[in-house]
Amino acid sequence: MIDQVKHYIEEVKNFEAKSLEELEQFRIKFLSKKQGLITKFFAEFKNVPKEEKPEYGKVLNELKALVEHKIKTLRQHLEDQQAQKVDMDLTLPGENMAVGTRHPLSIVRRELLDIFRRMGFAVAHGPEIEDDWHNFTALNFPHDHPARDMQDTFFIERDPDVVLRTHTSNTQIRYMETHRPPLKVVLPGRVYRNEAVSYRSHYVFHQIEGLYVDRNVSFADLKQTLLIFAREFFGEHTNIRFRPSYFPFTEPSAEMDVTCTLCGGKGCPVCKYTGWLEILGCGMVDPNVLRNMDIDPEEYTGYAFGFGIERIAMLKYGINDLRIFLENDKRMLDQFQYLGDEE
Ligand code: DAH
Repeated sequence: MIDQVKHYIEEVKNFEAKSLEELEQFRIKFLSKKQGLITKFFAEFKNVPKEEKPEYGKVLNELKALVEHKIKTLRQHLEDQQAQKVDMDLTLPGENMAVGTRHPLSIVRRELLDIFRRMGFAVAHGPEIEDDWHNFTALNFPHDHPARDMQDTFFIERDPDVVLRTHTSNTQIRYMETHRPPLKVVLPGRVYRNEAVSYRSHYVFHQIEGLYVDRNVSFADLKQTLLIFAREFFGEHTNIRFRPSYFPFTEPSAEMDVTCTLCGGKGCPVCKYTGWLEILGCGMVDPNVLRNMDIDPEEYTGYAFGFGIERIAMLKYGINDLRIFLENDKRMLDQFQYLGDEE
């Protein structure tokens, strides 16, 4: 009897199952309550001679433990194998999560700021809710001067001294309040004007202001900086031209055109057959502005410029309706890429 049990111990040790069904047959053979071998052997216990009982009990328990262990490990193994057979290529890369895209205005703003950063300009910001002094008076807009009408202003009803800034030039003043020359800075931001919404104007848009004040700054410096900027952004074959203009805070003042980005200067509907596109206002900082900031205009001179980001983005991407920048239609936004974190 003992030998029989030992024989089964060997059998169990060598047993391998190729499937869970086979393993189930094995389990029934040994552990089935009614006909299983273990039950049968335990029933034989009473017939075993007395002196053999201890050894018989020992090998029988060993057989039982072995069977249970074998079933447990084989089942685990077979189940793992089955899981791996799932009809799926686990080495394929996962599906990308949609992370959204950067807004075209942000893409262009960053590109513009990067160009000026490479030329040594710092970047700073100013408030959108402004007082009359910073938005107008310090910039040499006299009270009741018609120049104020150039920019239709949103006033706060309760306090006419408070406005939504009409341009980023307010930040020139803020910056000169806290920094002494030499100073060289670009100032991006959102601006507001009381204008009807159309394909080419909006009551909210974006600008970048530039300001450089130091000893011996000349109009030639301004031209050189803007030429480099135009060629970096619009391409190396871009030319620029200046037309005399008027802004209260610069003297002399100019508007700058670049070679039409569409026709390269030959003339087309976009440039109204002139070959040129107007993109910014600029000039030498008016001595009155410097004086307002306690900077001596005999010692220091400076240049300033300002332009709209929407206009530049429209030229870059061939967008012909300014309103779409604010609509945030996903079909439009999805055409731009996510380009990493800002600044
Ligand atoms: N602030 C002007 C505007 O919004 C743009 C401008 C013109 C800014 C000339 C300047 C400048 O700094 O020198 O129309």
